Amino acid sequence: MPTKTSIQNIGQFLGQSVTLQGWLYNKRSSGKIVFLQLRDGTGTIQCVAVKAELPEEVFQICQSLKQEASLRVTGEVKEDERAQNGYELTVQSVELLHQSDDYPISLKEHGVDFLLDHRHLWIRTPRQRAILKIRSEVLQAMTVFFSENGFTRVDPPILTPTSCEGTSELFHTQYFDEDAYLTQSGQMYMEAAAMALGKVYSMGPTFRAEKSKTRRHLIEFWMIEPEMAFVDHDENMRIQEQFVSYIVQHVLKHCAIELKTVGRDISILQNVQPPFPRMTYDEAIKWLNDNNYEIAWGEDFGAPHETALAAQFDRPVFIERYPTAIKAFYMQPDPDRPEVALCADLLAPEGYGEIIGGSERIHDFALLEKRFEEHQLPKEDYDWYLDLRRYGSVVHSGFGIGLERTVAWICGLEHVREAAAFPRMLYRLKP
Ligand code: 4AD
Ligand code: MG
Repeated sequence: MPTKTSIQNIGQFLGQSVTLQGWLYNKRSSGKIVFLQLRDGTGTIQCVAVKAELPEEVFQICQSLKQEASLRVTGEVKEDERAQNGYELTVQSVELLHQSDDYPISLKEHGVDFLLDHRHLWIRTPRQRAILKIRSEVLQAMTVFFSENGFTRVDPPILTPTSCEGTSELFHTQYFDEDAYLTQSGQMYMEAAAMALGKVYSMGPTFRAEKSKTRRHLIEFWMIEPEMAFVDHDENMRIQEQFVSYIVQHVLKHCAIELKTVGRDISILQNVQPPFPRMTYDEAIKWLNDNNYEIAWGEDFGAPHETALAAQFDRPVFIERYPTAIKAFYMQPDPDRPEVALCADLLAPEGYGEIIGGSERIHDFALLEKRFEEHQLPKEDYDWYLDLRRYGSVVHSGFGIGLERTVAWICGLEHVREAAAFPRMLYRLKP
């Protein structure tokens, strides 16, 4: 019996017969020879069926296979310099498991709406597979980084009674007789967890009912949120640059084929090493004004501003100390200059915009209480959060990194939607 294996491991069986199970991605035929492009989830490989060397019925099956038919192929592993992973298979036998008639996605170009309607099938194509694989490796890299640096994973709730990032973008739902909201960010819970465990992180879906239809926005996206006791704003940024560099270098090392499949220029990713450049918001405003962008101190950046700012550098850049007034209520104002906050956004190069938002948190009870009033947030709903400033309050900081934006940048995607298996976007809930 030939060994069952997968395409990614085929190199271990050079010269031997193996069995692969998968789907037909593409087929070319000359009458005397059929080239089957087989995919099995770990990669694709060309299987060559030669009429003169096969029983008639086996060759007929090869000719009858349609795009996305499922099959089992046995054959001998040969070296092939032209192949992406260096090997091809000479077919000895083929078993058709299930035929696939009239597969809706052909190999020609389709419009993006059509593809999104067929997302459940679109993810079978090599490019989409590569993106999902890279997304998985990004999460894997994060997990290893956290575990090697003393972080504990804590999972905050999805159903919440209050807002974390502003009330206008909340998804409302009913929690029996109470109002509830889908989480916008687990941060407040992670702050509580940091006081229990020191260094913590979460990974999970977050929801923003934002009527934004841009290439950077999803309605449901994954956020990874580390939170650290006894860490100030500067150390927070140092941890972020280590973290992001680690992720990018991990993907370069483990996803070479996938990066090639998505057509990524990896020379840019190779630069992603600490330290990252830092610019204050003040400096950024001045730079923008000097470069003919009309923006006044106190205004938030739009996508064109972020793109221009980041284009000056060959790796991500921190923009720090934004005006307190345009940032979330929990951010620590600079004690020497309270009109700016001890916060930073990390902007990715090449127009990908903000991938991380982070800050030092207010640890003083009276100051936080005052901020609730200024932001007109009902203090009684946040009483538990104030408790963290009642009992052994300490300086602490954290950040949130958007998974889809990070993957879109690493893969060089035009739109974040390709970075989620089943993206939730404005006016799109299906499939
Ligand atoms: O800057 P944000 O809103 O920060 C927070 O929610 C903090 N509470 C995080 C924290 O400090 N623990 O969001 C963080 C990141 C952004 O930088 C961006 O990468 C991503 O989440 N993000 C989105 N990604 C896709 N679609 C959206 N609509 C996003 N909104 C934010
Ligand atoms: Mg932000």
